Amino acid sequence: MERQLACRVDDLADGECLRADTDPPVAVYRVGGAFYATADSCSHEEWSLGEEGEVDGFEVTCSLHMARFDVRDGRALCLPAIRALETYAVEVVDGDVFVAHRRTADTPAV
Ligand code: FES
Repeated sequence: MERQLACRVDDLADGECLRADTDPPVAVYRVGGAFYATADSCSHEEWSLGEEGEVDGFEVTCSLHMARFDVRDGRALCLPAIRALETYAVEVVDGDVFVAHRRTADTPAV
C-alpha cells in the first residue's frame, strides 16, 4: 500500500477512532496526541474497528465479540481474536494524517 491520505488531524479527538476510506480501509486512532493505524476489519470476523470499536488507552475493543487489540502493534490481547491486525505507519503533515503499509507478525492471544 502506497502512502495514502487517511484523514485530517481535526477529524479525531483524543481517545477516538475512525474508519478511513483508504484502499484497503484502515482504522485510525488518536491516543495521547499521537496517531496509530491498523487494518479496519477485526481479525476474528469482518467487522469495522474504526466505526464500531471502542478505544481505551492503547486498546481497541471490537464491539461484535469483544476481542481487544493493541493499536500500537496490532497484537490480539484476548480471545476470540488470535491473529494480530496489520498495522500501518502514520505520518502527520500540515494537519493531514497519512498511512502506509507495514507488515505485522502474527502473535497469539495472551
Ligand atoms: Fe471482532 Fe469477533 S468480529 S471479536
